[in-house]
Parts: sequence; C-alpha cells; structure tokens
Amino acid sequence: MPAKVGERIAILGIGYVGLVTAATFLKRGHNVVCVDVLKDRVAMINDGKSPIFEPGLEEELEQGIRSGRLMATTDGITAARCSKFIFICVGTPSMPDGSIDLKFIRSASKDIGKGLKGRKGFPVVVMKSTVVPNTCEKVVRPIIEKASKMRAGRGFGLACNPEFLKEGEALKDSLHPDRIVIGGTDDRSRSAVEGLYKGMDAPLILTDLNTAEMIKYASNAFLAVRVGLSNEIANICSAHGVDVYEVMKGVGLDKRIGPHFLRAGAGFGGSCFPKDLKALRAAAEKAEVSLNILPSVLDQNEAQPLETIKLLKKVLKGLKGRRIALLGLAFKPDTDDVRETRALPIVKALLKEGAVVRLYDTNRAAMDNFRTFIKGKTKRVIECGSIEEALKGSDGAIIQTESKEFKALRPRDIKAWMRRPVIIDGRRTLDPHLMKRSGIVYRGIGWKNR
Ligand code: UGA
Repeated sequence: MPAKVGERIAILGIGYVGLVTAATFLKRGHNVVCVDVLKDRVAMINDGKSPIFEPGLEEELEQGIRSGRLMATTDGITAARCSKFIFICVGTPSMPDGSIDLKFIRSASKDIGKGLKGRKGFPVVVMKSTVVPNTCEKVVRPIIEKASKMRAGRGFGLACNPEFLKEGEALKDSLHPDRIVIGGTDDRSRSAVEGLYKGMDAPLILTDLNTAEMIKYASNAFLAVRVGLSNEIANICSAHGVDVYEVMKGVGLDKRIGPHFLRAGAGFGGSCFPKDLKALRAAAEKAEVSLNILPSVLDQNEAQPLETIKLLKKVLKGLKGRRIALLGLAFKPDTDDVRETRALPIVKALLKEGAVVRLYDTNRAAMDNFRTFIKGKTKRVIECGSIEEALKGSDGAIIQTESKEFKALRPRDIKAWMRRPVIIDGRRTLDPHLMKRSGIVYRGIGWKNR
C-alpha cells in the first residue's frame, strides 16, 4: 500500500542518520517530527539549523521549518503516538569489547511502545540504525510489545530499512540509492515502508528483519575488506617499486571486481567501518563463530597509517625535533567528523618520534573536534589557521585527506613555504610526476617512490 504524501513520520535520534532521513522524507513531501533527548539539538532544528555539517542538509531543514512540515521535540512518546511511521535512528556506540551498546535502542523502543498503546491504524516502527542480526526481533520487538500491549504484525508494523549513506554525499545517496532494503515481520509492514519510497528508481529487496540487518553489516564489511586488501597490496607494491594506483586501475576494470573502494593509502576511519567490523567480530565471538578475515583487516588498518611515518623517517633520516605539517584531520575530506580518523595514530607516532606537529584541516569544525584528542597533552602540537601557516618552515608534511584545498597546492608555494619540500601523501592527492619534476620529494604508500 503506497504511503500517502503528507504522512507524519517521527524520527527518533537526530544525529547524522536521523537528520539525513528527515531531510529525505521532507523532500518527498512528508511531515517530519524529529525527537532527541538533547535539548540544544532540538532547539537548533526548530530554528532551521543543522547540528552537523553535510552538504545540502541545512537548506532542507530550514525549508521544512519554514513550510511548517518539520518540528523537533524531546517528547518521543507523543511523537510516536501521533505518527504513522516511527523511525529509530539513535546511535549504537561501541562497548569496550567492540560489541554494540543497545541502551539508546532500548530506551527509544520503550518510548515507542508507550506511545503506541491504544493506537489504531497499524503504525509502523522502522529500524534505520545499524544493528546486529536479531536486534529487531529479540530486543526491539519484545520491548514495544510489552509497553504497547500489542503484537507486531497485528497492532503495529515492524521493519528494518538500513541506510547506505556516505558522509559528505549522504543526501544524494539517500535520494538516489543503489538499492532499497526493507526487512519486516510481515508483508503489511514491508509494503507500508515500500510506499514511502514509491517512485524511486532503485532495486527493492523485501526480506525478513534479520537479513536486512545483516545486509547492512555485510556491505560495510565487504567495503572495508576491499580497502584493507588494497592497502595490503599497496605495501607489497612499495617493496617492489610498483604503483598501486596503476595496479588497481587494471584490477578495477574487471567487471566482476569494479573500480570502487580500491584507493589505497593510510587506512580507513569514520564512525562506520571500524565500529561495524568490531561489532560483527563481537557478534561472531558471542555465537562462537571463528573469524579470520575481519580481525586481520582491523589489525592491518591500525598499522597502515604508520606507513606514512616510515616513508617520512626514511627521507628525513629521523624525526626528532623536525617540524612536520599534518594536512587533514577529519577521517575523509568534506566532513568535520574525526571519529577513528587516521590522523590520530599519525600524530601519536610523530610525537613518539620527537617531532613537532603542525595541524591543519580545511574544515574548521574538524580542527575543533580533533582538538579534544590532544588538548593540554603536549606543547609539541601546534594548530595552524591556514595551509600556508602549517607548511611554513616545515621539514616535511603528511597529507591525510585528499581535500580540494590540498589538491590545489602549487609546487612553487610548497617550495617557497617549506624549509624542505618533502611531502608524504597518505592518499593520492597531487600529481606525483608534476611534484617530482618540480623538485619536491613526493612519496606515497604503494608508489614507485624513487
Ligand atoms: C560508509 C559506507 O561507505 C556507507 O555506504 C555506509 O552507509 C556508511 O559507512 C555507514 O555505515 O553509515 P562513510 O563511513 O561515510 O560510509 O565513508 P566512506 O566514504 O565509505 O569512507 C570510509 C573510510 O574509508 C574513509 O576513511 C576513506 O578515506 C576510506 N577509503 C574509502 C579508502 O581508504 N579507500 C577507498 O577506496 C574508499
């Protein structure tokens, strides 16, 4: 049954996923009520402001507030009571053993159950947060059923509709998905959620709750393994004087492999790949399934950023007392997100080697977020307000994200600013041939480096 345009949708949890989901449904003509326990976040939304940076997001939220189709509240029970669809978008942080902490999922489910009590009209609860298999079935369902005194599939619908959003391109990914996955307890729940996506040009997978949950984890695991394997191949390439980027071009043209997520470098970061791999590992351990590949990928990803330090040490013959610029603090370009950024192990290693580190990121908020990792810990880390300030007088630089600003660096500026024009690129940001021709020592992970 297609959803009516103008359906009321409650979004519980207005972090990254919740906000992008809200913006997507606003754009599709629905009414959205955002719910969060954080009062300042709620106030920001009601002012039409986005608490996070994501291209295009604030415009959608502002427009939603102006048109009266968006509001935010801290009252999850009432929001659930008044909505046809209730999306769970709360965070799933990691426990010390890497397993996911379901405390926010549980409290959201409880509020939803209370809100649904006595409701008519088959409201549908949809899991959007990334959760391990059996979370909807064994955790969410019993909590809602107990609090609402209704059965899933009878009084209310229960579905799992994972997101596949990349930070920096999230709104585009959400409006033009590669596929739409909808798991549900029953056909009525699945087809209600299907109606929300009516007219979207994407293959649809209708399945059960556990399979939908697993599709999300398997996708992220697969992508992380591709990056990890590319990095391992890069390290072999380094040792043999082969360019991994040329190799991966050749590999990616095989239609069975494809060209995406083969960019080797300093490793993967972010709130998803490392956390999801650890959660999957913990879930497997709990089920007594022994794993080989995923734990190795995680270990390799810890070691990978240190390849930049090895290259730098080799050129500068030691790093003690050297001034080293680190360009890029976020986990990737166009974001302020520093979670699991590979910049942190690089800074730690530089400090251990005795270097003075000059930090810079194009995104000011990324600089602010990164500061929390190092604040008050050492005087050997200096924050710089511009790329020029970071590079000026430096003995070497490491590029950790391939931002547009770094891509626009000109050889003559590098040579004018740096004490020694030595750059180690943890991605493939600038043209190595041009840099070398210009007299810059420009090296990278898995390059020919001669
Ligand atoms: C990832 C997935 O790509 C999304 O599909 C998924 O929805 C999301 O996690 C999530 O679970 O919410 P995201 O973490 O935003 O998205 O970022 P990616 O663009 O996937 O990059 C992850 C990390 O891998 C970054 O550090 C990036 O620099 C690195 N990477 C990516 C590489 O080192 N090489 C590549 O070829 C691709």
